[in-house]
Amino acid sequence: MVRTKKVLKKSLKKTKVQAVEPIILQTLRGMKDILPSDQPYWDQVRRVTERLARDYGFFRMDTPIVEYANLFTRTIGEGTDIVEKEMYAFTTRGGDKVALRPELTAGNCRSYIQNGMSVFPKPVKIFSTGPVYRYDRPQEGRYREHYQANFDAYGEIDPILDAQVIQVAYRLIQNLGIKSVQIQVNSIGCPVCRKDYRNLLVNYLESKKAKLCQDCKRRSTVNPLRVLDCKEDKCSQVSASAPQSINHLCDECRTHFKVFLEYLDELDLPYIINPRLVRGLDYYTKTVFEIWSGAEDGKKHSLGGGGRYDGLIKSMGGEDTPAIGFAVGVERLILEMKRVQAKPYKAPRPRVFMAQLGNLAKRKSLKLFSELEKNGILVAESFGRGSLKSQLKVANKLGVDLTLILGQKETLDGTAIVKNMATGVQETVSVDKLVELIKKKLKADNVVVYHN
Ligand code: HAM
Repeated sequence: MVRTKKVLKKSLKKTKVQAVEPIILQTLRGMKDILPSDQPYWDQVRRVTERLARDYGFFRMDTPIVEYANLFTRTIGEGTDIVEKEMYAFTTRGGDKVALRPELTAGNCRSYIQNGMSVFPKPVKIFSTGPVYRYDRPQEGRYREHYQANFDAYGEIDPILDAQVIQVAYRLIQNLGIKSVQIQVNSIGCPVCRKDYRNLLVNYLESKKAKLCQDCKRRSTVNPLRVLDCKEDKCSQVSASAPQSINHLCDECRTHFKVFLEYLDELDLPYIINPRLVRGLDYYTKTVFEIWSGAEDGKKHSLGGGGRYDGLIKSMGGEDTPAIGFAVGVERLILEMKRVQAKPYKAPRPRVFMAQLGNLAKRKSLKLFSELEKNGILVAESFGRGSLKSQLKVANKLGVDLTLILGQKETLDGTAIVKNMATGVQETVSVDKLVELIKKKLKADNVVVYHN
């Protein structure tokens, strides 16, 4: 007996120590739920991006969120912030070193090679969207999980494609109702001319090293182009007088850039040349660009960015394949849409409410609801409620045009009452004729026309 008590005490003690941790009812820092109330904005972005992808011949592709980590370290670049500081990398139970994708292009290139897409007619245009992960310091417009809509085109070296891709990005932003933006373009050359330019830049930065921030002191030799992109004041001052890549392009890159600008002029796109635009990923060659929001006050955001990456597919083990693409950040687009009061998508709302009274009617209304839905009629209901009064209250709240009332008598007669909510006029209709009648009434009333 004494022993049993002891064991019991011991096990109770153990239970206390092993108390389960409470579930933290919070998203991780830098991540968020996209609630139903915000979905109209997301719907609008989805609709606009998907429509433009279709119109410009981009096919949708979805790749996994998790890939081998070296897919990203080798393509985006070891010395970049994304790889050095922001990757969600881990080892799986099976010992694979993997990472949550910090962008979509590397996965698309992997898939392009793996699936032999080089046999398709060029350019092969791919559209993808989804979440990407960067372990950055969160703030407005910068999240650890954010969504991108990404457009990539493979197999075309002609600068006409550079201009067309920028036009897609610009159209996308304009179609969302964001009218005031600035397109910044630059050319960072190819591996041939970049080598000389890089040396020049390293020498210049060496002479100014004392004036650079701690990060840039290190970057100035490892990845000197990144110094030009640093937001620290003192580094901006140094890069203001740094040698510019566009003044050191080889003949091929210079011609490419010149013709590209002529195409932009032809399209009347509002661009400026920003000689300090270098982008935060190492795979770019020749054309790079970003589109910035026009916020006069407060923080400006880059809504999207991209460029050419002619050497990437080959460096990954594929055929020599020039490529160009861009991605927009969905959250940033939505922030800007809200700021400029651009319209979100207005989903069609039900214009018919179905009310029922009594057990038999309740059973029949479930099937009738589905009949109407099959015929493209959106119906609202509150089947769980018993009284007609409380159901009509819901119908009024929803602002429907018609309410169908199904009682015991109607159910037995094979009819339903159709009530016009504006006039209060009621008529009894045979259930067989209901679909046609509702369709006719909704059209005739011409209450609201929703865009598709
Ligand atoms: P990126 O400039 O790193 O390019 O990202 C594209 C866009 O994603 C940015 O312009 C911004 O709107 C958004 N974005 C980036 N980081 C965050 C963040 N932490 N929170 C919220 N939004 C963010 C790329 O990712 C390239 N893969 C684009 C590309 C495609 N280049 C060629 N093809």
